[in-house]
Amino acid sequence: MKNYSRRKFIKKSGLSAIASLGGSTLLNNSCDGNLESTSRKGKYMGDFKAPKINTIQVAFIGVGARGTGHAKHIAKIEGTEIVAISDLYEDLVNRSVKNCIDIGNGRHKNIKRYFGGESEWKKMLDEVKPDIVFISTNWKNHAPMAIEVMNKGAHAFVEVPIAVTIEEMWQIVDTSEQTQKHCMMMENVNYGREELLYLNLCRQNIIGDLLHGEAAYIHELRFQMKEEERGTGSWRTHHYANRNGNLYPTHGLGPVAQYMNLSRGEDQFNSIVSFSSPSKGRNLYSKNNYSKDHKWNALDFKGGDLNTSILKSQLGRTIMIQWDETSPRPYSRHNLIQGTKGILAGFPARIALEGGVPGITKDHHRWAEGDSLDEFFEKYDHPMYKRLGSLAKKMGGHGGMDFMMLYRIIECLRNGQALDQNVYEGCFWSAVAPLSEASVVQEGLPQKFPDFTRENWKITKPLGIIS
Ligand SMILES: NC(=O)c1ccc[n+]([C@@H]2O[C@H](COP(=O)([O-])OP(=O)(O)OC[C@H]3O[C@@H](n4cnc5c(N)ncnc54)[C@H](O)[C@@H]3O)[C@@H](O)[C@H]2O)c1
Repeated sequence: MKNYSRRKFIKKSGLSAIASLGGSTLLNNSCDGNLESTSRKGKYMGDFKAPKINTIQVAFIGVGARGTGHAKHIAKIEGTEIVAISDLYEDLVNRSVKNCIDIGNGRHKNIKRYFGGESEWKKMLDEVKPDIVFISTNWKNHAPMAIEVMNKGAHAFVEVPIAVTIEEMWQIVDTSEQTQKHCMMMENVNYGREELLYLNLCRQNIIGDLLHGEAAYIHELRFQMKEEERGTGSWRTHHYANRNGNLYPTHGLGPVAQYMNLSRGEDQFNSIVSFSSPSKGRNLYSKNNYSKDHKWNALDFKGGDLNTSILKSQLGRTIMIQWDETSPRPYSRHNLIQGTKGILAGFPARIALEGGVPGITKDHHRWAEGDSLDEFFEKYDHPMYKRLGSLAKKMGGHGGMDFMMLYRIIECLRNGQALDQNVYEGCFWSAVAPLSEASVVQEGLPQKFPDFTRENWKITKPLGIIS
């Protein structure tokens, strides 16, 4: 079956949801090139620079646990004017409006409020016509909202993951290319001190040619199930129950992909294999914490507690990606990158180099770690961290990475610069979730990444070391 007719078939038969859940024989097709986009009337967005905007009119969709913080940060950043906030719930909208007015030094005087219905955000786009929109809603809403935002003439900034299915990712790419609007997935972890520092070390060839990376999101979040009617647990719990794969890959993968220049001139995503452990933890947690007739006990959690995927790049490099939000164990994103001359690792930060880390170790048989790394870190800190790090730390949000990301977004838009993460990277990093589901259901069969850039990754510039 040709790709186009396959897409039409999926749409018509209503199977796209099943395909996204990794439960359909259609997924076998993902080995021969995936669901390819057919329409291409736009222009490639790899190094896209949008016309400068001096004062940026900002709107928000979703001000729950995550969006509230984004609104507070943006309210502080010069060159912004918050014009509208939308959420399903009036109290959340009111809280964020108040925060922004209190913080904004008189800059956010006229914030329109939209709440009370699933589609109020559409009214907001029509009435307010913002320049940019931050989308921090449940995953299912990311793609339709981002697409509508771009079609209505605004740049879209979307929380992680950018979308749930490969088909949605193609629609986002096509819309961005057709409308010439940014659609950036906001991977804040790429702005962590250690991640920026390791990027700087990779670019300076300190660990030689890159061979292998390890990435993860290991974060025990069962407590979110307490949010039963609204809030994160109320929708995220259903993903754990219904999907089996590597559902939240971008925090670990984003930085490692940029160390390797994946989809940026040097190398490209090729294929992925994926396996899940047995599914035990969520069923056990529900049984131990909720009554027999509670809605969580009516679910059968089919997602394995720990997923391990291995991604292969076109140059043959490997990246192990793990995901576990269920098991009782300490937090980790691994953040490991290995080259021909040494290795950098996270959680805790450790470095080993051939010939030793100057002034700390004598050879590569032991790690330089802990306080001994302070001086080395100061020497190699990323120039952008040197410029913005102390302000970001003061402003906060995951140790400052949230503020730095938002600051950079506004800075790039005001200066007409390319963003630090393009729409294709958001799609490649997010594609691990649906591709891993497809692999898991087929006993680890390799799944090919679609080329969202249509080969233009070859002419895309690596992310520079921005000062
Ligand atoms: N990057 C990070 O570090 C990080 C951290 C936490 C969450 N997230 C991401 O942020 C997103 C939001 O997660 P959260 O924990 O804040 O969830 P949440 O449930 O607390 O917030 C989502 C909000 O979206 C609103 N919403 C849903 N449908 C809407 C609609 N049709 N119109 C207007 N508002 C609507 C909900 O009412 C809710 O308040 C998710 O994509 C999550 O993955 C990212």
